[in-house]
Amino acid sequence: MSILEAIRAKAAGGELSAEQSRGFIDAYLGGELGDEQATELLAAIFEHGMVTGELVAWTEAMLNSGELLSWPGLEGPILDKHSTGGVGDKASLPLAPALAACGAKVPMISGRGLGHTGGTLDKLEAIPGLSTSLSVSRLREIMDQVGVVIAAQTETLVPADRRLYALRDATGYVASIPLIASSILSKKLAEGLDALVLDVKFGTGATMVDPADGEELARTMLALAGGCGLSTTVFQTTMDQPLGCAVGHTLEVDEALECMRGEGPDDLRELVVTLGGALLSAGGLCDDEVAGQAAIGEALDDGRARERFAAMIEAQGGEGGVTENPGLLPRTGNTSVWCSPASGVLDLADCRELGLVVADLGGARGAETREIDPAVGLRWLCRLGDEVQAGDALAEIFYRDGSGLATAEARLGRVVRFDTGRTPGPLVLGRLDS
Ligand code: URA
Repeated sequence: MSILEAIRAKAAGGELSAEQSRGFIDAYLGGELGDEQATELLAAIFEHGMVTGELVAWTEAMLNSGELLSWPGLEGPILDKHSTGGVGDKASLPLAPALAACGAKVPMISGRGLGHTGGTLDKLEAIPGLSTSLSVSRLREIMDQVGVVIAAQTETLVPADRRLYALRDATGYVASIPLIASSILSKKLAEGLDALVLDVKFGTGATMVDPADGEELARTMLALAGGCGLSTTVFQTTMDQPLGCAVGHTLEVDEALECMRGEGPDDLRELVVTLGGALLSAGGLCDDEVAGQAAIGEALDDGRARERFAAMIEAQGGEGGVTENPGLLPRTGNTSVWCSPASGVLDLADCRELGLVVADLGGARGAETREIDPAVGLRWLCRLGDEVQAGDALAEIFYRDGSGLATAEARLGRVVRFDTGRTPGPLVLGRLDS
């Protein structure tokens, strides 16, 4: 069967064989198949899912599309974290350098904005001069010198995910368990890790809205990682409001820097400390998770995480001075305060809409090539369950030249609810260990 026939068979509800998965990835990367055929396959996987063996083979084909990293001679456990994505999720920015400050080595291959969620790479690239497109040899040098690097997929590093990730963002084939699991694990398995923590989010701001889907995604990734011998812990976390207050690239770097000063929103710190504690413990760098949490907290409070972040930024060609002077980040110079239209106990009908506000303002890609404006976004000034009065400031909007402001304000007006009786749950709902 040709690859094109295999795509059609998948679209009709069939399964891809391991050979067909490898054949598709080779042909797509080699230019024999274009985005149109790849979109057909994404649509088929989105529609029909994948059975276990099929997903394992598909993930292996993505993983083996590029180099597999290994770290002979590098001291310290090789650790990493990845999130399934959510509105305002900037946890990787403080977590990666905090782990390195505690003795871990962190070769984090990350992603760009996907759907309504922002990507770690785009956030980091708000920093003037910083590049996430690194050769494998440069990545190794930075790991040797700084112990932490946050890098993009490239032509030689999980190129299959590089292409398919961008295509999913452009076509909207995002919220699919096999597509998310293979995307994340192809990157993480290529990193040569000793231990991995996954943050699987569900709720209206996450890629997976339904808790049952979140649970299935968590179990699927745990089984995939475990099958490859990678020690993995999955944290299941809620996302019905932004993580922290900032949504938008520069604003999220600001907030990550606050976290690395021992300040900033409590939920962001709680998440960073929880995930970091689990990783330090899995990597043997502390006696147990409680000790690991304390170690991460100290690295955030005493400036070591921030110093490591500055060193990483400079090693990646960026302006390390932003850690002491966030004024060096791109700014719009225009802000508008959005006030509550009514009084009552605050709720959000759909947190995803806050991610779309950033898109309205020009802070997201509409297609693979469109530039994003890193300076736009919003600061969400309240939390679900707060008692607010009509006229209270609920959000600060950072816009450029008035562009998208009216649309963003109208969106906020549609999404805010009062007195629904819903109470916000805890941030971390559960965990699964391999
Ligand atoms: N992060 C990824 O790397 N891929 C996804 O599909 C979702 C989140």
